[in-house]
Amino acid sequence: MTTAAAASAVSTAALAARPIGMFDSGIGGLTVARAVARRLPHERIVYFGDTAHLPYGDKSAAAIQAYSVKICDLLLRQHCKVIMIACNSASAAAYELVREYVGSKARVLNVIDPIVAHLGQAYSGRRVGLIGTKQTVNSNVYKKKVDDLDAGVDLQSLATPLLVPMIEEGFFKNSISDDIIGTYLSHAALADIDALVLACTHYPLIKEQIARYYNGRVDVLDASDVVAADAEAYLAARGLLAPSAATPPAHHFYVSDFTRSFEESTRIFFEHEVHLEHYPLWE
Ligand code: DGL
Repeated sequence: MTTAAAASAVSTAALAARPIGMFDSGIGGLTVARAVARRLPHERIVYFGDTAHLPYGDKSAAAIQAYSVKICDLLLRQHCKVIMIACNSASAAAYELVREYVGSKARVLNVIDPIVAHLGQAYSGRRVGLIGTKQTVNSNVYKKKVDDLDAGVDLQSLATPLLVPMIEEGFFKNSISDDIIGTYLSHAALADIDALVLACTHYPLIKEQIARYYNGRVDVLDASDVVAADAEAYLAARGLLAPSAATPPAHHFYVSDFTRSFEESTRIFFEHEVHLEHYPLWE
């Protein structure tokens, strides 16, 4: 190995040991963190939930872009090798800008591209529904990316803004939430679909209820598993997977506004309660 090659091998190894940064408007993105932690147990995660600005789903693209850039500054200061936008609304509104802003300092991944690629491979010539926040659906970004594939996927989207507050309140797995979900899913826009994309990182928590509504007639696609698999492939292809260690990695979970109720809700999103550190980015 030449000296230059040895130096670059060392720097790739050093990069691999750095954490994966993730952010979301709040704690919904913890469903993505959970999928990544399950699939890549040696990776250290630095998570930022912008709870001071929750929800992003009703914000303008300009506001979400401004928040995203500021969060990236924090994740770059933490030397993250990758920044994963673990929020559909922010992936829709800010991915291109964040990628440009971050430049060569870290790789930027989003939660939209992996599921779009999956649709192109598995649902060519078929009709697929999508539910998400107003920001995600009105941005039309999924539709544009799916159409760009030219795979004949007919994508029909519906904004379902009541679902995030319902889930945040822990208000699911009961008959009233069944009614809300059923009312949305029976909308004409989602008629005759073969699959439904859950295009919001909160929705994995109601996946079972949605699957029960369809009773096996429609594939319910939880993007978090697809995103975690994509992150693994991405890191592996670049030699950036974290080396295995004897002790589990120490993740960090920051929020821009701390409340006890956010911390208690982490259990439903991440499967166990995690300690949230208050990081007041906006003062
Ligand atoms: N988790 C966010 C997403 O995936 C939605 C929550 C919000 O509106 O802030 O779009």
